[in-house]
Formats: sequence, C-alpha cells, structure tokens
Amino acid sequence: MSTIKKVALGSQGLVVPAEGLGCMGMTSGVAGMSVYGEADEAESLATLHRALELGINLLDTADLYGPMLNERLVGKVLAGRRQGIILATKFGFEVDDNEQYTGKLNGHPQYARKCIERSLKNLGTDYVDLYYLHRVDPRVPIEDSIGEMSRFVEEGKVRYLGVSETTPEELRRAHQVHPITALQTEYSLFDRGVEETGSLQAARELGIGFVAYSPLGRGFLSGDIKSPDDFEANDSRRFFPRYQGENFYKNLELVEKLQTLAQAKDLTAAQLAIAWVLAQNVVAIPGTKRRKYLEANVAAASITLSPQELAELEAIMPVGSSAGAAYPAMF
Ligand SMILES: NC(=O)c1ccc[n+]([C@@H]2O[C@H](COP(=O)([O-])OP(=O)(O)OC[C@H]3O[C@@H](n4cnc5c(N)ncnc54)[C@H](OP(=O)(O)O)[C@@H]3O)[C@@H](O)[C@H]2O)c1
Repeated sequence: MSTIKKVALGSQGLVVPAEGLGCMGMTSGVAGMSVYGEADEAESLATLHRALELGINLLDTADLYGPMLNERLVGKVLAGRRQGIILATKFGFEVDDNEQYTGKLNGHPQYARKCIERSLKNLGTDYVDLYYLHRVDPRVPIEDSIGEMSRFVEEGKVRYLGVSETTPEELRRAHQVHPITALQTEYSLFDRGVEETGSLQAARELGIGFVAYSPLGRGFLSGDIKSPDDFEANDSRRFFPRYQGENFYKNLELVEKLQTLAQAKDLTAAQLAIAWVLAQNVVAIPGTKRRKYLEANVAAASITLSPQELAELEAIMPVGSSAGAAYPAMF
C-alpha cells in the first residue's frame, strides 16, 4: 500500500489523495476517435484495481467519455468497495439518447437531472461523490445549472459539487448558489492558462479545491511522442492545434529541455511534470490506461522539488511558452 498524501479538496470536508486517476483514455472518444490510442479493457480494469491498491481512490470520469462507456467501465470496479472510492463524474457536453455527443453544451436543469440519473445507472451506484458541470452552457445562467445540482446534494444523489473550465466570475457566481468543492481545469507546465486567467487564484481565495487535468499535456510532456506520426490514425490529439505542424515541433523543443532536466535527476519527464503540478498545491489526475504508467506516476507524488529545481523548470517552461490552442474548434 502506498502512502500517498491525502489532502482536503475544497472546504466542505472532502479528503482525496493528492493524485487521482484520470480514466478518460480507457474507452473510445467522441465521433469514433480514440482518445489517446486504442484502449484494452482488461488492462484498463487492471489499472483501476492497481490504482485502488495504491491508495489512488479518486477516479475521474464523465458521461462524455465513451460516451457512457467510461462510466460503465469505472462502475465495474465499485462492487464491494464503493465507500472506499471517491467517484467523480461530469455532465454538460450534450449526449443524446443514442449515446452520441451532439456537439452542443447543455446546462439546463432538466437535462442535468436526466444526466445524473443516467450516470448513476451507468456507474451502478446510488451516489456520486463529486459531480461536475463539465462546461458552462452560455445559454443557461450558471445559477440555474448549479441550483439544480444542489438539489441532487439534498436528495443524496451527490455529495459535493464541482465545475470545470469556468472563469473566475462564473466560479464566484456558482459558489454563491451552493458551496463549490472543486474547480477542474487543464494545468501543467505545458498549459498555465489558469494562472493567466486568474481562475486558480479565485479558487484559492474562495477555498475551492483545484484539480489539474491533463497534467502531462495529454501525454506530450512524457517526451515519448517525437513526431505527429507517433499518434495512431484516429488518435484525438491529431486534431488538437498544439500537436499539429509547426506547433508540434516548437513544443517538442520545450519537452526536450524537460527531459534533459529529468534525466539529470534520475526521473522521467512525466514524473517531473507531475511533481511540478503537485508542487503548486493542487490535486493532479494524470490519465493512463496502463499499470506501468500508473505506478511511475504514483511514485512522482513522493518527489519534493527544491526552490532551485522549481526555478529551473520555470526557466525552461515559463507561462505562455507552449504553442497552439488547447482545443480544436469543435470543443
Ligand atoms: N474537465 C475536462 O474538461 C477534462 C479534459 C481532459 C481530461 N480530463 C480528465 O483529466 C484526466 C487526465 O488528463 P488527460 O488524460 O487528458 O491527460 P494527461 O494526464 O496529461 O495525459 C494522458 C496521456 O499521457 C500518457 N501517460 C500517462 N502517464 C505516462 C507516463 N508515466 N509515461 C508516458 N506517458 C504517460 C497516457 O498514455 P496511455 O493512454 O497510453 O496510458 C495518455 O496518453 C483525464 O483522464 C480526464 O479524466 C478532464
């Protein structure tokens, strides 16, 4: 059993391991794409079980992933150990009754209710620990979406509420309707947008926990991807501006510097990248569908970086150093 550090997430009493497990890549992506290459269900399940053995009991999924297949997969490890697991899922990218992503956001209260019932069924549980609004629907005031989600808490279907990718203003408005436990947004050496937008600072001021998604820059910070051809034909990263054309090679130069620094410390670049995120006093949820990466990533949670090491990292990857937009236009 690992001795992974436990931390308070938000101010409502939720305690989580400093590092959780991102499950998104364990099933297919939207529109028939693979998220980060083809997944093998047996290895994904073995990874989930190994994570739980290692104390990584914060599992991050969403109805969008698969769609639905990811929640069903995660649901398979709950039997007999539900109370020991902190299950986080999300709604807000609209998924229709044929389980297809419609390309729209939907934060309407009625849709939220349909989603929580659907997620509970897919997960095979009667409560979700942390329920996120995956994106704010610009057509629906955040007060309305969060207002309905707060009723799920009253009804015992959800324990804590979260939001994802909000502005500081939206975060404040949401928090006034019901205490928000976590803001989940992309954050890594590769994407420090939350420092620039002020949303990380806003979360800190409000006592809201911060969960860093894609802490490995969708795998790019591992240094294992050397050319856009390393992505499988239908790997979703082929559609992300950061991993295309000139951007790819500019970003690769940054990653090579990270690798050099990691090698000098006898670490992998992925481990150094995770250690940097954790050093920002946030929770990280690196994603993997393989036990070998999981184990390496868990080991990264024990690394303490000195002020000098943090300054070296800052020097090679300062705010704004990566090239290309975080998302393709469809998102
Ligand atoms: N709220 C949101 O909008 C949002 C958006 C994106 C993601 N998320 C959540 O955040 C989680 C994590 O983000 P992410 O999965 O997008 O990106 P990530 O954690 O930055 O990177 C995942 C990628 O890194 C690879 N990887 C993991 N550990 C590695 C290691 N030690 N060495 C080499 N490669 C390694 C994985 O490979 P394998 O796949 O081969 O294991 C996968 O391709 C997701 O699973 C999801 O739950 C949320």
